Amino acid sequence: MPSKRMADPRLPLGEILKAVDPREKAALALKLANEGVSGIPDSPLSDWPRPVRRDEPPLRPPNEMPKRGLGSLAGRQALMHAIAHIELNAIDLAADMAGRFAHVIPLPERDSFVADWLSVMSDEARHFLMVADRLEQMDTRYGALPAHEGLFDAAARTSFDIKARLAIAPLVLEARGLDVTPGMIERLRRAGDDSSAEVLTVIYTEEIGHVATGIRWFRHCCSGDEQSPAEIFKSLVEQHFPGGLKRPFNDEAREEAGFERQWYEALAKS
Ligand SMILES: [Fe+2]
Ligand SMILES: [Fe+2]
Repeated sequence: MPSKRMADPRLPLGEILKAVDPREKAALALKLANEGVSGIPDSPLSDWPRPVRRDEPPLRPPNEMPKRGLGSLAGRQALMHAIAHIELNAIDLAADMAGRFAHVIPLPERDSFVADWLSVMSDEARHFLMVADRLEQMDTRYGALPAHEGLFDAAARTSFDIKARLAIAPLVLEARGLDVTPGMIERLRRAGDDSSAEVLTVIYTEEIGHVATGIRWFRHCCSGDEQSPAEIFKSLVEQHFPGGLKRPFNDEAREEAGFERQWYEALAKS
């Protein structure tokens, strides 16, 4: 029997977080992004789900991940597997952003907040499928190699505060992707793996837009605050990402995303 709660437009977003099969999760995300979600009410959903953990890939702490050069197929498989894992987690993070946090964005901007993160979610689902397909061309598959829990942990640590989530997910982690991806593309090309390099080039270009979306909503959320967005960013990153930010930064891509240099330079590891 349909209850009143069944009508909450966030529930299909929750189904994405609960989807166990990676390709099913991506397909659900693409379908929902296509259909759109609107009319999210002012109150939180009390039983908002957490992303499910699967039996595979086996999860290891980031410092226990094997490091291999890209000269060997095994090394390239490991790199693309790590990227697939990031993209899958990014689907969950985008669904979580729209479903968990939309109610804190006052109307009338709430629907455009949701539309923005649905668009990010749709990109992430496409990214995951591209990398998963590429892994299969490379005689392996997503789930076959170990992966690390960094993104999942970052999401869990910031699930109570939209500004903290925006600071850590798009503005620290996705921006870090902009710093490191051009080097990966170059190394893949040098190893003769143009197909993987092309997949990463598409991802890199679109991730600039995700960081831009993060910046825009972070500024929006800070607009009524006494402190500047740069100061709020600094204190949130110090609190939730205490290791500091690694150089070198990709200033050009960060600038294209609207990320001001003083925001992240203030947090760089010396
Ligand atoms: Fe992505
Ligand atoms: Fe992204």
